[in-house]
Amino acid sequence: MSQSGNAHEGETWARIDAEADRLKRTRILDLFAADPQRVDALTFTAPHLVLDVSKQRIDGAAIAALAAHAEAMNFSEARRALFEGGVLNATEQREVLHTNLRGPGPHGAESAQVRTRVREFAKRFRGGQIRGATGAPLDSIVHIGIGGSDLGPRLVVDALRRFRAPNVTLRFAANVDGAEIVDALEGLDPARTLIVVVSKTFTTQETMANAEAARAWLRQALGPEGAAQHVAAVTAAPERATAWGAAPEMLFPFRDWVGGRYSLWSAVGLSADCALQDGAFDALLAGANDMDAHFRALPLPRNAPFVSACVQMLNRTHLGAHSYVVAPYARRLSLLAPFLQQLEMESNGKSIDRDGKPVRHLAAAVTWGDVGTNAQHSFFQLLHQGAEPIPVEFLVDMGRGEGPAEHRKLLRANVLAQAEALLLGKSVNTVRAELFASGLDAGAATKLAPHKAFPGDRPSTIMGIDGVTPAALGALLAFYEHRTFAQAVMMGVNAFDQWGVELGKVLAQGVARALEGKPAARQHDPSTAAWIARLKE
Ligand code: F6P
Repeated sequence: MSQSGNAHEGETWARIDAEADRLKRTRILDLFAADPQRVDALTFTAPHLVLDVSKQRIDGAAIAALAAHAEAMNFSEARRALFEGGVLNATEQREVLHTNLRGPGPHGAESAQVRTRVREFAKRFRGGQIRGATGAPLDSIVHIGIGGSDLGPRLVVDALRRFRAPNVTLRFAANVDGAEIVDALEGLDPARTLIVVVSKTFTTQETMANAEAARAWLRQALGPEGAAQHVAAVTAAPERATAWGAAPEMLFPFRDWVGGRYSLWSAVGLSADCALQDGAFDALLAGANDMDAHFRALPLPRNAPFVSACVQMLNRTHLGAHSYVVAPYARRLSLLAPFLQQLEMESNGKSIDRDGKPVRHLAAAVTWGDVGTNAQHSFFQLLHQGAEPIPVEFLVDMGRGEGPAEHRKLLRANVLAQAEALLLGKSVNTVRAELFASGLDAGAATKLAPHKAFPGDRPSTIMGIDGVTPAALGALLAFYEHRTFAQAVMMGVNAFDQWGVELGKVLAQGVARALEGKPAARQHDPSTAAWIARLKE
């Protein structure tokens, strides 16, 4: 596959520049006024989702310009490779085929085989048929992994609490801070606990440290041989897991064409599958596969992940937004922001294109956010009155939700009101008049008015999900994967490597030695040297 783009790339950027210049000079409310069909034209449906970008500074002409640019960047060929194979990850010489874990493709058959093994194991675990060294059935799992080996499964089991298997306890340990493994093991009975070590590379420092600590805890109670029956390993490096001591029947492999942050769908989902009701994990995969079919088949101007990528990209490249907020108005999606932070920023937090040259535009922004309505009472002040407009992506649960119907209404009222407030704002004159009418004298009203005014004209997206169900969650996460990919293709970067995490990892080894009092292998900068002296044990 050719690298970053073709000869027309300059022309397509020029067309995007022209559309963006026009949109920059237009208020969003004027876009609505100019086109009575705007809401319909900018509302897109995809499996389990409704995407409304009408409150964003975008329109059909801009989407057409971005679609032309995507094609100039070989989008169709890249998308084909995402499903059928081809070295999409050139810096690691790897294919990228996580879609094969949930649907057809060159590795579909192999994936289905591993999936059957995972499904059977999970079924037996839930049924109390997996017994430990003492003969007692296992009913608790400590999932040890970090980054992509943690965030997806953690989000899924938290979001799908209503679909949890009643008899399974699942805890997670990611951070190397010892407090994390202490909390994860606290109160568990080693004789009934399975430790699931999840690491694509089986070298990650934090994961290996936590795995050692957990195994020591098992060994103390069950002895070395007994402990071995309580450890499962999920990895793309089975030889390393075997050398570490994982038993062959407890080894669940995945392949190197599955990137860490795209690995939820593989055996990495083992502990989530065990902790969910029978069929839930398969429904998650089916929902993702439905979104794959949408992304693969729909023409770009009607393709929901692609259109959303256009919005994200234009906001960053031309409309001055350095970050965006994801605000799910769904408590069950409270771990979505951390999941998206890895997916989007580890994939697209790059400034060098596939050919090794600086990118023309940074097409990916900083991702941050939290659930509504909580976030309204913390950082929404900045969204409404801060100096820079920050686009917001609201998610709303269109299903029945949980708890009293009255709460559902209040939650929905809040999400719609927040998006409307960002759009409409409130002028100083209006505020002044209101204050005056409420009895304040003219001087006091004039003084107070700027503090209570809202600039408005602030963009947002509303995305509806038809419920926080396994299938809808699968579709939602696949939507975000494909949006991230589409942004990467348009920007010209490789979304599937992550060299930016390496330097710190390497330096940490030397710092660890220095903290043990061993002679420094290299000279540290003065600040680091001072901190080493302070923290040395
Ligand atoms: O350091 C970043 C990273 O490599 C992520 O890309 C990955 O998801 C995480 O670490 C964990 O890696 P592994 O699964 O190999 O332990």
